[in-house]
Amino acid sequence: MIITIDGPAAAGKGTLAATLAEKYRLAYFDTGMVYRAVGLEMVLQELDVHDQDSAARIASEMTFVKMMELSRHPDFRTDIGGQAASIVSAHPAVRSALLKMQQDFSHNPTFADGTPANGAVYDGRDTGTVVCPDADIKFFITAGPEVRAKRRYDEFVQKGVAADFEKVLADMIARDKRDSERATAPLKPADDAVILDTSALTADQVAEQTVAYIEAHRH
Ligand code: DC
Repeated sequence: MIITIDGPAAAGKGTLAATLAEKYRLAYFDTGMVYRAVGLEMVLQELDVHDQDSAARIASEMTFVKMMELSRHPDFRTDIGGQAASIVSAHPAVRSALLKMQQDFSHNPTFADGTPANGAVYDGRDTGTVVCPDADIKFFITAGPEVRAKRRYDEFVQKGVAADFEKVLADMIARDKRDSERATAPLKPADDAVILDTSALTADQVAEQTVAYIEAHRH
């Protein structure tokens, strides 16, 4: 079974993906990681993230192993990594260079220790529209920008990272705008995706509603 979960930053995709992965024994692919890896690698090499040619070169050299290594860098999950990812992900040449790596995962999904999984759950922006258009189940998870900024802000506070709510909100709005207005694979629900607004829902309620849908629609 292949499940895709798309939506804007901090809508609850990762939490839901982890819950569904555990319940159905699916391997989890957080596709934002591939763009964060390319963005951060460019920042570390002091390259201009707006330059499509160098971004495409870094993307074409990116491997799963290198991505996992970069994911341990302190800036991978901060706004530095997020904004760099959002900028490089708007380059069509970067998206096409990273597509096969994401699609290959669905052909033979395995857990980190190499054991085979029952399928895969993807999270990202275009996993239901471009990466896995034939997925069995597609969700589009969204929430208002203030709610998402508050969730992100709380995560920073919990990790002991200094954060300013207004800045988190402004960054979130800027990233939403860039992700949804880009020409290639913009953030939008697939025609056959179930759209869920999580603004007033707890993570448990989101899990309950999506599991009920999967149970009713899985083959
Ligand atoms: O989900 P995230 O915050 O880790 O994603 C970081 C950036 O990567 C996001 O702002 C846009 C880009 N992205 C994308 O364009 N397509 C995806 N499938 C996943 C992420």
